[in-house]
Amino acid sequence: MKRILVTGALGQIGSELVAALRRRPEVELVVASDIKMMRRSAEGGADTGVGAFEYLDCTNQRRIEQVVTKHCIDTIYHLAALLSAVAEERPQVAWDVNLGGLYRVLEVARQNRCAVFFPSSIGVFGPGTPRDQTPQDTIQRPTTMYGVTKVAGELVCDYYHFRFGIDTRGLRFPGIISHVAVPGGGTTDYAVEMFYNAVRNRRYTCFLEPDTRLDMMYMPDSIKAAIEVMEADAERLVHRNAFNVTAMNFTPQELATEIREHVPNFRIEYQVDPVRQAIADSWPHSIEDSAARSEWDWDPEHDLASMTRDMLENLERKLRVAVREQGD
Ligand code: SER
Repeated sequence: MKRILVTGALGQIGSELVAALRRRPEVELVVASDIKMMRRSAEGGADTGVGAFEYLDCTNQRRIEQVVTKHCIDTIYHLAALLSAVAEERPQVAWDVNLGGLYRVLEVARQNRCAVFFPSSIGVFGPGTPRDQTPQDTIQRPTTMYGVTKVAGELVCDYYHFRFGIDTRGLRFPGIISHVAVPGGGTTDYAVEMFYNAVRNRRYTCFLEPDTRLDMMYMPDSIKAAIEVMEADAERLVHRNAFNVTAMNFTPQELATEIREHVPNFRIEYQVDPVRQAIADSWPHSIEDSAARSEWDWDPEHDLASMTRDMLENLERKLRVAVREQGD
């Protein structure tokens, strides 16, 4: 039976991963932790359900150690990190939190023999990387602090595996779309914002150019991937940190067209943010995830059409707006 600690549990992924892990029969305990205090579900907020919660600053190694020993933790999903746009605004903090936090988690994992999940990103790639069907093993020279911390994170996770035998595994997540908790300060956030604005206002001003193509994934697939990679048979793993995973890729224009299938009067305008546009322009248009498919049977369930349908249904319920019944 597993005893799991999730850091950054009130963030976009953590809000849903904690609940999903708590439903697993092989999981005895999930301790949610965050630098924010827990609040019960509210719009844009998180609800990790009933269960253990610890206040945890991941740059404080003694505190991580305390939480891990107190709850006899054997697996850490280390999600606490700054996303790309915020990291570009505050690169020094991003270095401390993203890399300093990971290093401290790995040290505690080494001393307590914990497995570690590390969420890497398409941000590990840069302008020198092949941009279409980006392979698993390729050039990783990012031009953002977010990307620098994620590449270094992948390397140090592999190092802890080879040097100390720690079971570290990771995924290079694309943009993640969900209706439960909003992402904070990422470049792919436009997709989530577009859904919220389509339901609320039937119009959205996008901060990326209409033809900016990026990989994306619906949250249920992200949760499935994070759980499955940690459960994968170690004997089959050639790679560890971290696997390319994707489910779809689209541009803001294509997403708006798909939303219009359900919300015909939805309108999109563009007011480009040069910082986030530059970040997006340094990332791939599409990544190739055959290593994940062959080493642990990765197989996403949602494409653009099914994700859009499900997002709108859930947001309409959540925001209590019956968009389709409203006139123009
Ligand atoms: N979704 C992240 C971001 O936009 C990338 O991994 O920062």
